[in-house]
Amino acid sequence: MIIRLEGIEKKYGHTQAVKPVHLTIRDSFVTILGQSGCGKTTLLKMLAGLTDPSDGHLLFDDRMIFSKEKDVNVKPNKREIAMVFQDFGLWPHMSALENVAFGLPGKVTRRERKERAREALSMVKLEEKATVKPGSLSGGQQQRVALARAIAIQPKLILFDEALSALDAVLRDHMREEILNIVQSIGAQGIFVTHDQTEAMAMSESMLVMNMGEVVQYGAPEDIYHSPADSFVANFIGKANWLEDQATMIRPENISLYPRKHTVHRSGVVIKSLYEGDRYLIMVKHHEQIWKVYDQQPHQEGTEISLYIEENHIHSLMKREA
Ligand SMILES: Nc1ncnc2c1ncn2[C@@H]1O[C@H](COP(=O)(O)OP(=O)(O)OP(=O)(O)O)[C@@H](O)[C@H]1O
Ligand SMILES: [Mg+2]
Repeated sequence: MIIRLEGIEKKYGHTQAVKPVHLTIRDSFVTILGQSGCGKTTLLKMLAGLTDPSDGHLLFDDRMIFSKEKDVNVKPNKREIAMVFQDFGLWPHMSALENVAFGLPGKVTRRERKERAREALSMVKLEEKATVKPGSLSGGQQQRVALARAIAIQPKLILFDEALSALDAVLRDHMREEILNIVQSIGAQGIFVTHDQTEAMAMSESMLVMNMGEVVQYGAPEDIYHSPADSFVANFIGKANWLEDQATMIRPENISLYPRKHTVHRSGVVIKSLYEGDRYLIMVKHHEQIWKVYDQQPHQEGTEISLYIEENHIHSLMKREA
């Protein structure tokens, strides 16, 4: 479905948690990325109907979901949205199956409830744990129960709020793929909040970057990485080097330590070489700035070094203090 936010905003007294958002979301999987406190959860909750916006209109396709002006506010359970939280939000006294069935609407018969809950559990490959309580499940299994509860209501849209942050790195990678597959297989849309930029870039068709209550950029991860809207985005999504004018940015992978054609030349002194597993991040001091470049080998601290920048990888943008 097409999600339209027209001036949707949230104020808590004098705090503007989310500044007016004007945005149309058509993609099936979107990530929201931003620092702690920038308004990600507030934005999700306004979509879900768990927080009332202070102003604006919200439309799903052509259906008005919220309008301050027209006094429209569709109830959360009528929005066909499910939400998965960071802490899973499972009931400790209920089995996995009961937890999943719990979210289903009251009008569903007992038998159908059980059937749908079972089906959802099987989609997340957890049928054999149906009778087990959350306390006896691993973190990843609890996450799966939460996901099953979300898909059981057959939502059009699933909102994930830092849903993987309680899991270790390996499990997180795995669950990330599983979430994408499941959301896709039930034909739903997904909006996934994270403050992990690698996660955001790897998962989404489109990424929405927020800073201090404001949506600063929305687009494909590649476009955001290569053409960041401002210096906040440039520094937040990946590493950036800045020329003296403070408005021109070069990504570390576009700087070579070896002469190439059509390059701009700089020299500096090696400050540090940091091992990153598949390469070294070399910190080079040029005038008063630290430049970041990559190489396959470390460089001795204090060595004079030349940097070659490919001209077509120099991006001009306005630097704004983040
Ligand atoms: N119920 C509330 N009352 C008052 N202020 C609130 C309330 N909820 C959120 N805020 C404020 O709104 C701002 C945005 O909060 P929000 O929870 O949306 O951030 P977030 O991006 O989800 O952060 P995190 O990554 O830490 O979860 C913060 O400054 C927060 O203190
Ligand atoms: Mg949050």
